[in-house]
Amino acid sequence: MYICLCKSVTDKQIRRAAAKGVDNLYELRESLGVASGCGTCASAAQEILAETTSKRGRPSLYVPSPV
Ligand code: FES
Repeated sequence: MYICLCKSVTDKQIRRAAAKGVDNLYELRESLGVASGCGTCASAAQEILAETTSKRGRPSLYVPSPV
């Protein structure tokens, strides 16, 4: 489904960007152009971003073991 009509960006593209590490609207705008036109899509894009990044969870902490 198209989220940003101005830049023809879909929810799948936003989820893919989130999976690659994009976690805020600024980065999303830089990478896909979302919300760089009229701005109407900003809240919907942010919701998808938040939903996707919360599913991804936090990265686990790496603790090196002594050799
Ligand atoms: S719909 Fe995304 S900038 Fe206009």
